[in-house]
Amino acid sequence: MASCLGESDGGLTFWLAEEKDYDDVMDISDDIYGGNDYLPRRYHSWMTEPGRVVMLARRGDKLVALESGLLVDDGCTVVVEGLRVCPSERGRGVAGVIQRFLDDYLQKLHPSIRVKRLTRGVEPGAERLAKFTLLAKRAVLSLVGEAVSFHTFSSHIRNKLHSSTGTGSDSGKSVPHLVPLDDKQLRKVLLDPDLPSRAQLPGGAIIQDWQPLQPIEANLEILGRRDLSWLVDDQEKPTFLSFYTPPYPIPYEGGSLRLNIDTFGMNAVFARAALVGHFEKVLASGAFTGRSKVVAHVYVDPSMYEELQGFCEGDAGVKKFRDRWDQEFMERGV
Ligand SMILES: CC(C)(COP(=O)(O)OP(=O)(O)OC[C@H]1O[C@@H](n2cnc3c(N)ncnc32)[C@H](O)[C@@H]1OP(=O)(O)O)[C@@H](O)C(=O)NCCC(=O)NCCS
Repeated sequence: MASCLGESDGGLTFWLAEEKDYDDVMDISDDIYGGNDYLPRRYHSWMTEPGRVVMLARRGDKLVALESGLLVDDGCTVVVEGLRVCPSERGRGVAGVIQRFLDDYLQKLHPSIRVKRLTRGVEPGAERLAKFTLLAKRAVLSLVGEAVSFHTFSSHIRNKLHSSTGTGSDSGKSVPHLVPLDDKQLRKVLLDPDLPSRAQLPGGAIIQDWQPLQPIEANLEILGRRDLSWLVDDQEKPTFLSFYTPPYPIPYEGGSLRLNIDTFGMNAVFARAALVGHFEKVLASGAFTGRSKVVAHVYVDPSMYEELQGFCEGDAGVKKFRDRWDQEFMERGV
């Protein structure tokens, strides 16, 4: 049974989340991220994930806010995620209150924490969170279609990739060949100290489905939990890396699937090949079978956005989900 961890001046009480709080959490999460919320799927695994704290704020019996922190980077960093405040309490500073409480709680629990990191999605040009330093920005290309439409979409982009008459920076060049990585190769690639500069990792991190992790030994186990499918341009010294996270259900339109494809490096030709490779693999896995809609988010260096957007155009079934938006990766000292 959870016990109250503290109380704010404004009458909020703080609690560690438990399995039994799931329905209350879902009640305050209605329509978050336009139906693309990951928490309905992740909540249960968050309850048991090593190094994670999920904090709740209540007013009386009513749940009003949630925020979570995951200890990463060998105990030096907390990555905060999941922040949400119930609609009736928004605009009154509650987000700041729960963040400060969680910060203090984590600092006492893990005095080794030096920085707090987060990622958030914003429209280009949106105001930045004042107290954070921007480490990197990636553009997000978002696509949507019926699950079955992704088969023709996949053939469509494969044909485009192979077309020697394609426009763009790859015009007339040979089709790039990307290769997977086994666990041993992945370990070697990630622990190579030259990787962040060679592959121009955003802020020096691998951002996996919004979670920034430094490519260090202590984070390999965390990445290993995520069951990622990697593609790289070279199995020893890659300049380009990409993976997809296994698709998961989201609330969008009464129940859809979300696919995240993360890319690292600045070569748009490799990024095109990665999209083709990932869509083919995920379709072959049967993950889209029996689903209605799929929303796919592709994270790329902003310099490649236009080209990749053009690459994904022209299919009747898979369309742009929304205009370009950005993933900002930020930190502040604690
Ligand atoms: C975004 C959201 C959490 C803001 O909550 P809120 O209580 O209404 O926010 P307020 O503007 O009243 O609170 C302001 C404080 O929260 C912080 N804050 C607001 N939005 C934030 C965000 N997206 N990430 C981090 N901090 C945020 C502000 O910096 C400020 O902090 P301060 O008190 O230390 O100055 C709330 O609107 C919400 O639940 N939205 C839907 C879910 C969502 O978009 N979550 C964002 C995840 S990045």
